[in-house]
Amino acid sequence: MAQPARAPRMLLFERVAEKLGDAISAGILLPGDRLPSVRELSLQERVSVSTVLQAYQLLESRDLVEARPQSGHYVRLPPRLAAAPEPATSRPPRRAAEPEVSDLVRRVYAAARDERMVQLGAAVPSTELLPSKPLNRLVAALAREVGAVGLEYDMPPGWPPLRQQLARRSLTWGCALSAEDFITTCGASEAVSLCLLAVARPGDIVALESPAYYGVLRAVEALGLRALEIPTHPRDGIQLDALAEALRRHPVRAVLVVTNFSNPLGTVMPDARKQELVELLRRAEVPLIEDDIYGDLQFGPLRPRAAKAWDKEGWVMLCGSFSKTLAPGFRVGWAAPGRFAERVELLKFAQTVATPTLPQMAIAEFLQGGGYDRHLRTLRRTLAGQMERMRETLSHVLPEGTRITRPDGGTLLWVQMPDGVDALALHAEALERGIAVAPGPIFSATGTGYPSCIRINTGIPDDERIHQALRTLGEIAQQLLRRTRAPSLRRA
Ligand SMILES: Cc1ncc(COP(=O)(O)O)c(C=O)c1O
Repeated sequence: MAQPARAPRMLLFERVAEKLGDAISAGILLPGDRLPSVRELSLQERVSVSTVLQAYQLLESRDLVEARPQSGHYVRLPPRLAAAPEPATSRPPRRAAEPEVSDLVRRVYAAARDERMVQLGAAVPSTELLPSKPLNRLVAALAREVGAVGLEYDMPPGWPPLRQQLARRSLTWGCALSAEDFITTCGASEAVSLCLLAVARPGDIVALESPAYYGVLRAVEALGLRALEIPTHPRDGIQLDALAEALRRHPVRAVLVVTNFSNPLGTVMPDARKQELVELLRRAEVPLIEDDIYGDLQFGPLRPRAAKAWDKEGWVMLCGSFSKTLAPGFRVGWAAPGRFAERVELLKFAQTVATPTLPQMAIAEFLQGGGYDRHLRTLRRTLAGQMERMRETLSHVLPEGTRITRPDGGTLLWVQMPDGVDALALHAEALERGIAVAPGPIFSATGTGYPSCIRINTGIPDDERIHQALRTLGEIAQQLLRRTRAPSLRRA
């Protein structure tokens, strides 16, 4: 009689691997968890270091574990292969346009005021994630202690201790700016507008990424400028060959780029490209308005550098604010406008005279006391988890063929659905069902580009209500797609 085949005996390293594999499948070890070091595990399991190394290699080959250089072994995040791929390079029109997105934008931000909505349309971490208690305490203490100083105008270039703190932080951006290089502003919006005003006149052309943050398109519109959209890739950013060609073909007065975790694509321009961009514009003598408002929100260990780090001749006008990290309502931002500093300072006075004093004082103290860095450490970890989980849900519920960006920081996902899913119809239907999203067309200068795209904010604690809202978006998108495909099916 034939003997039943005996399971082959497991080798020692396979047994160690199996034990860890079981802990991963049982959810005892979670995606992203760090595994014991090779030495720790060898002591724990009473096996040799080389057995542990073999066990880790086996788990890596099964895609359960990943090795991170200088850091150790980690439980792998859910397999990304099944998740939606990233969008390709954009292909905007090659002519300059006077942006026309105001009406649509007004509708979008009206929805953002409605507290009953599930707010997936904003571009900011929700207030639960912001350090309201320590900041409010600081404001209250300052209001008591500084007497009338907080009531006075703080004339440009702005609150000196805050500019001092910004100078210190500029080291983490790869720059070594001094307090004198900064002018404080009412948010990054004012910084960008002042820079545009300083270098361009009505009718002039400004080149920018496509898709572009609709607030910038509105600023371009309000200043009577024309926007020239340049093809942009979600990983590499603005395409430099296309930009170089645009500079040859059009009298471009300024280039505006969100260099780190851009809005809406989440792009971080690689360092080499930042350097190339700065060099290209220096040669062309065209100012670069660099908006680095999201740079502090990286998920990895290192903050990406600003393009300003490569600016030797002052052509880069760096802008930023604390709106995405601390307090959008404080309206505290800055510009480091390089060779255009004097003009920007004059314009700042002409436009709004000064930046509110008390919020600048509070932020300067928060930075100086180390509160900002402590807060960023928690915020980054929280945002990374939320984005991963929300991306996962979206990639399962949206129609097949959907592409979704995969940023390494910030709070934004750009979702490109199959042709036939009308983003404006989806936006309208989602509002009816209590969900606000930002529809693609507002990110194009003409208000007609990106008709099947939406931008989703993941800066919200992702409880069941949020994942349910994402599933509802999926249902709406599937319905819209069925509706547009149905007539052609009937014809067939
Ligand atoms: C790229 C970009 N720049 C500027 C702003 C506006 O920033 P602030 O609130 O500091 O004016 C935003 C806000 O969404 C943004 O996404």
